[in-house]
Amino acid sequence: MHYIRLLRPPTFEGSRAGLKIKVIVSITTDLGDSFLSPDAPIGVRIHVKSQSKTGPIWTELTSRASPPTWRAGQRVLKLDLTVPPALSRVFQLHVRPADERLVASKSSVMANGGQGLIVPVWVDVAAPGEESAHVGSRILKLFDDKPYTLHVEEEIGDTNLARHIWDGGLMAVAHLANLLASSPPQGMVEGLTGLKEILAQDKELNILEIGSGIGTLGIGLAQILQAGVLGRTQGANVLMTDLPEAEERIWANILRYNSASNAVPGDSSNRVEVSVDYENLDWEDGMKGVLGPKVKARPWDLLIISDCTYNTSTLMALANTLAQVNRANNELPDLPLVPGANADGDGPLEPGWNSKLMLATKPRHESERKFLDYFEGACYYEDEHVELSLPMLDGDAQKVEIYLFTKKAWTKNIMLAEL
Ligand SMILES: C[S@@+](CC[C@H](N)C(=O)[O-])C[C@H]1O[C@@H](n2cnc3c(N)ncnc32)[C@H](O)[C@@H]1O
Repeated sequence: MHYIRLLRPPTFEGSRAGLKIKVIVSITTDLGDSFLSPDAPIGVRIHVKSQSKTGPIWTELTSRASPPTWRAGQRVLKLDLTVPPALSRVFQLHVRPADERLVASKSSVMANGGQGLIVPVWVDVAAPGEESAHVGSRILKLFDDKPYTLHVEEEIGDTNLARHIWDGGLMAVAHLANLLASSPPQGMVEGLTGLKEILAQDKELNILEIGSGIGTLGIGLAQILQAGVLGRTQGANVLMTDLPEAEERIWANILRYNSASNAVPGDSSNRVEVSVDYENLDWEDGMKGVLGPKVKARPWDLLIISDCTYNTSTLMALANTLAQVNRANNELPDLPLVPGANADGDGPLEPGWNSKLMLATKPRHESERKFLDYFEGACYYEDEHVELSLPMLDGDAQKVEIYLFTKKAWTKNIMLAEL
């Protein structure tokens, strides 16, 4: 998948001829390491949102008949667009492919990787003379028949891993929405029945995300569960964790989630409460059993991870952090009775906690597959997995894989020895 990016926030320039807005666009992969190289030029449309007497209105600044284009070999597209004098106070700008069929705007269009897609961007624009925030938003409509969207912001012109969007998280959110939709879209990959079973349980669900970045997966899943899918009537708690460098952006996205939750338009009759929270968790601490109070507070039904297994040098810390979370779960009071430890793991019943882990990844190199060995070493056993084709417009086929693992309570003290 490709992403429309701004290389810096839009700026205004005033002249006698009127106000101009300068926008520098690029279209790249999630990592930003490869520019879109399409067979035929791709038109780009830019709209701005401004205040009118009757409320906010969107106006196109690019020519509908002959929009600017992005071509193979291009690295940036610089645009100077005239703002019609009648528009008072422009406060948002939206950049998207001109061809509607290429827009990655809803989960259902991402179900079948046949059609290459581009993720559009929205940017808040400061008044002329003021500096705009270095932040762009990604918005994904989760269901065709329900008013729930994923809305996350990421940093413009920042290459920090924790501060922008990744294919693994976005594709996993789209797939989860499709999996739980009342009518799953045509062409979607079947599977992950175990995951559907966990999410369909009508009990308060506790979900912990490890390495959440800007919160795409955790917040996306929270929005999906809010919609009361599969007849769920009870709420859920989603706790996201990452390094301190992720904090500012993720709290901004939690704030967005909370305000969106308080204002779900249209049919929200089935809506259930889903809380979203954040706590720092460095795997270098986690692997030693140093976990924060929020992580230790609940037994987690489901751990979720996306795009965190690309670096084999951190897999040991990650796998042992998961094992330590499992150990902490098993030390909580009032746990249910589950089969205790013996060689087969079906010893006499004792209080304990079995949990599941969903992991999404866009494999970037062969050595990444080692995560399966590391996870098995920490007693996370694979139940099933699916492979989703990434909707690419150019280059080699790519995919996102989603795995479901189980960790049984009786393996609570098993940590991974160095491989
Ligand atoms: C490629 S990003 C993926 C982010 C997010 N899961 C997503 O899919 O959008 C990898 C994430 O792992 C986090 N990470 C890397 N090393 C970590 C560590 N030692 N402890 C905690 N998080 C770590 C990074 O901060 C980053 O947010």
